[in-house]
Order: sequence, then C-alpha cells, then structure tokens
Amino acid sequence: MNTRTDLLNYFIRERGFRSFLEIGTADGANFRAVECEHKVNVDPNAEATFRMTSDDFFHQNRDKFDLVFIDGFHEWHQALRDANNALNVLTPGGVIVMHDCHPDCEECAAHVDEYRQPDRSWCGDVWKAFALLRSELRYKTYVWDHDWGCGVIDTAESAEPAGRLPDVERLTFADFVAHPEWMGFVEKPF
Ligand SMILES: C[S@@+](CC[C@H](N)C(=O)[O-])C[C@H]1O[C@@H](n2cnc3c(N)ncnc32)[C@H](O)[C@@H]1O
Repeated sequence: MNTRTDLLNYFIRERGFRSFLEIGTADGANFRAVECEHKVNVDPNAEATFRMTSDDFFHQNRDKFDLVFIDGFHEWHQALRDANNALNVLTPGGVIVMHDCHPDCEECAAHVDEYRQPDRSWCGDVWKAFALLRSELRYKTYVWDHDWGCGVIDTAESAEPAGRLPDVERLTFADFVAHPEWMGFVEKPF
C-alpha cells in the first residue's frame, strides 16, 4: 500500500463504505481507480460530476458521503474550509482524507502567493489546515506518511485533540519540520 488510491480503497474495503466524494480531480486518474458504489467528483477546471469550486459545490449539495478525499486548491484556508464542509456531509463513522500533508521541501510547502514552481510536487500549506484540525477535533487524526502525506480524520473513533498550536498564520516550514507531533505521522492506517 503506497498511494492515496490504495488508502482510499483500503477504507472502502475495510469499512464497507458505499459513497465517495473527491474534491479536486485533475485528470481523474485517482477518481477512476477508486472502487466505490457511488462516486462524485468536483473540479472547476476539469471533467467532473460537478464542474465548479468546492465552495460552490458544498453550498448546493444535500448528499452525504462515507469517504471524502480533499485534494483541491492547496491553500490552507481553503483546505480547512473543505474539511469543515466535508465534516458536515459525512455519514456517522465516515472518514476524511486530506492529501499533501507532508511537503518535503520549503518550495513544496510555499503558500500560493509565494508559489515558485518547485521541481517536486507542490503541496502548498495544506499541512497547516490539518495541524489545526488535529489540534481541535475530538476524533482520531493522523497522517499516513506516504504519497505526500494523507491526513486522516476518522470519525468512527473519538480521541483527545492534539492540543493548542501557535498562531497558524505565522507558522513556517521550519516549524513544520521541528514539530512532527502536530501531524501525527504513521506508517500504517489504524
Ligand atoms: C492536485 S490536483 C488533484 C489530483 C487528483 N485528486 C489526484 O489524486 O490525482 C488539484 C485539482 O484541484 C482543482 N481545484 C483548484 N481549485 C479548486 C477548488 N476551489 N475547488 C475544487 N477543485 C479545485 C484543480 O483544478 C486541480 O485539478
């Protein structure tokens, strides 16, 4: 198990999930490879069930989903909004997976305003959204440390929040590297 697709299919298989929502779909490679009975994707710039921004989608959507994959605009306020909206459309015991929670270079982690086309994959500062969620939510949260880091919010299990963070807006990539506990990196989903 190495990729985000493997992780998503793992949850679908292990939990018997029947509905899947993907925010940000690009060429649809992941979306097509996810094996789930009912699938919906959202992207303003690509072929998708809903060709619109995630904000517009959540504004109009009335459906519930067992599993939500967040991989849209890689800016932390947007990723946080996507996660909070996803929590509102999640079935009881559902799971959210947030991609790009482990940038491995400063340029990969740059805020969109400072984006300079890194050689490696651009994760943006999505990690800040996950660290903040993990610091506050009373659910099991961790980052499966593969494929640029897949942040998991597992609402099937309660847990104590990870604890207060310093002012998120001001946090840097050096802070991210110095505080792996903010993310809760794991090798295996649990
Ligand atoms: C990294 S790609 C997604 C990759 C795909 N999930 C995968 O696993 O292969 C990010 C996508 O998010 C889309 N996107 C950008 N802003 C968005 C927004 N506000 N709402 C939804 N999707 C957005 C982009 O058009 C792009 O296709």
